[in-house]
Order: sequence, then structure tokens, then C-alpha cells
Amino acid sequence: MSKKALVFGSRGQLGIEITRSLRRAGWAVVSFDRHTADVRQSDVVHSFVESESPELVVNCAAYNTVDRAEKEPAAAYYANALAVRNLATACRKGNARLVHFSTDYVFDGAKDQPYTEADWPHPRNAYGVSKLSGEHYAFAYLDSALVIRTCGVYGPEGIHTAHGNFVETMLRNAHAERQLRVVTDTIASPTFAPALAEKAVALAGDKRFGLYHAGGGQPVSWYDFAREIFAVCQLPADLVPTTRAEYPTQAERPLFSALSNERLEREGYGVMPSVREALVAYFDRREDALRQGNRGQ
Ligand SMILES: NC(=O)c1ccc[n+]([C@@H]2O[C@H](COP(=O)([O-])OP(=O)(O)OC[C@H]3O[C@@H](n4cnc5c(N)ncnc54)[C@H](OP(=O)(O)O)[C@@H]3O)[C@@H](O)[C@H]2O)c1
Repeated sequence: MSKKALVFGSRGQLGIEITRSLRRAGWAVVSFDRHTADVRQSDVVHSFVESESPELVVNCAAYNTVDRAEKEPAAAYYANALAVRNLATACRKGNARLVHFSTDYVFDGAKDQPYTEADWPHPRNAYGVSKLSGEHYAFAYLDSALVIRTCGVYGPEGIHTAHGNFVETMLRNAHAERQLRVVTDTIASPTFAPALAEKAVALAGDKRFGLYHAGGGQPVSWYDFAREIFAVCQLPADLVPTTRAEYPTQAERPLFSALSNERLEREGYGVMPSVREALVAYFDRREDALRQGNRGQ
């Protein structure tokens, strides 16, 4: 009999890929989107974990609107922190393992080298605070929670999901022949969702726990990432470099938040694809996603 996993937040770009990767790895998956299970509701989460009795619970649900979180920090906290408490307490009661995803925005960006798991978090915005609190809840209630921090997630299913991703935003604006002003002074490690899902499922399958970083293969500015996007898909775009000073946002963001995958690699989980490799794979799969519609469930 196959092992059972529950996936919460299953209609997000990562939730869809996690569901696929788990199934490919032989797990029986029961997936819940926001409408079937709102992770903020403790009784709902507890009752599903109790009735399904899974070995693994994967939380891909998140409140991800970073700027809006500045205006409504409580909403971000409920979804990104207290919801993790609900999942962690349900896992503790049901003897299930929890896999949870966190963010590069737990860091302040003062470094200029990729952040490791040993670096001290110091979030600069309400979203980062809520995600760091979620990590604390996972580790507070469980001895063997697996928390994976990632960065700038983009998966081909972002063409269908409510919040999309950076690649789709770039393409939409280019098709509309709008000028694209993209920052050169903010460095991250944009992460290809299918590759992240593969690593997460491998870690979970090996019963790893603790904190892991899994970001894209190399640090890159958002401007250079945008250039690579248009180079790979061969779409002309009016791309103009700008800076953070010229493009202020509601939430303060770290100037440098690339993640080091050193631990992941050292423990034998391989390297994440380079920016170019990941974008080539993105556009291949995007064609399939366009043809097939949203079949993530
Ligand atoms: N996206 C990024 O750039 C990024 C960067 C760093 C870390 N991460 C982390 O990576 C993980 C996956 O993110 P993603 O890119 O897959 O985000 P996503 O595409 O926005 O998916 C998140 C999913 O969570 C759902 N959700 C929100 N609130 C919920 C609730 N209360 N109960 C149940 N479901 C809820 C959303 O539903 P609705 O669509 O209905 O809101 C959405 O389907 C998250 O932990 C996120 O914090 C993401």
C-alpha cells in the first residue's frame, strides 16, 4: 500500500508541482485547496489530518502578497504563522511529519553572499515576520518538522494560478508592449517550482528534518533575470534598468536575498538548475500547461 500525503494549498504553483512530484514518487496524495481546507481554521485542519491519517503533511498554502501585508499584518500572520501552528499541532496529534515552506524574506539583505541556514534571520517586512513565525511554530510543536526556505518561486502553472509569478508578469507586459522597468540592485535566486518540488519530496522521502535552503541555482538581479526570460523565449521587450530608489514599494525588501543550497548539495540532493536551464524547462512545460489547462488537482 502506498504511503499517504496530504497537501494543503494545492492550487498554488508549488502545491501543483508538489502534488505531481509526490505522486511520481509513489505517494497517495489527498490535496486540499483553499476552498476545501482553509489552513487558518484549526478544526478543519485537525479533522482532515485525523480522518485521513497521513504519514506526511505538506503545507504549500501561504499569504504571499508582500506589499499588502504591510497594511494587514494580522491577515498575513493568520495565514503564514497561526495556520502553521494548526498544521503542526494536528501533525503532532496524528503522528504525521510536516513539510513547510518559508522564504528568503526572513533575511535583511545586509549580506552579499548567499544566505545559509546558519545565518541569523532579521526580516524587514510584515510578510517576512509572519513567515519566520511560521517556522517557529513548526519547530516548536514538532521534533521532526522539515522547513524549506525558498525564493522567487516560478512554476509553469503560474499561468493559471491566482497570483501568477514574475515570468508571467514580464510576458504579459511585453505582449501589451508596455515598457518594463526592472530593478538592477535587488539580487535573489528565483526558483523553478518543479525543481524545488523534486528536492522537497526527496528530502521528505528520506525523513530529513530541520531547516534547508533551496533557491534557484545562482544569484541574479531581477533585471538580469528578466533579460534571460526574454532571451530564452525570444520575445522582444522594452526592458529598462531601474533601481529601488526609483521604484519604491510599500514593503521594504532585502537588497540581497539569494539562498545558498550548500547543505542540500552536501547531503547528496544535487544542484538546482541554473537560471538558463530552469527557464528553458519553464517554457517547455508552459506550452504543455497552456495546452492542457489547469490539471494540477
Ligand atoms: N511565490 C514566491 O515568490 C515565493 C517566494 C519565497 C517563498 N515562497 C513560499 O513558497 C510557498 C509556495 O508559494 P507559491 O509560489 O506556490 O504561492 P501561490 O502560487 O500564491 O500559492 C499559494 C496558495 O495558497 C493558497 N492559500 C492562501 N491562503 C490560504 C489559506 N488560508 N488556506 C488554504 N490555502 C490558502 C492560495 O490560494 P488563493 O490563490 O485562493 O489565494 C494559493 O493557492 C509558500 O510557502 C510561499 O510563502 C514563495
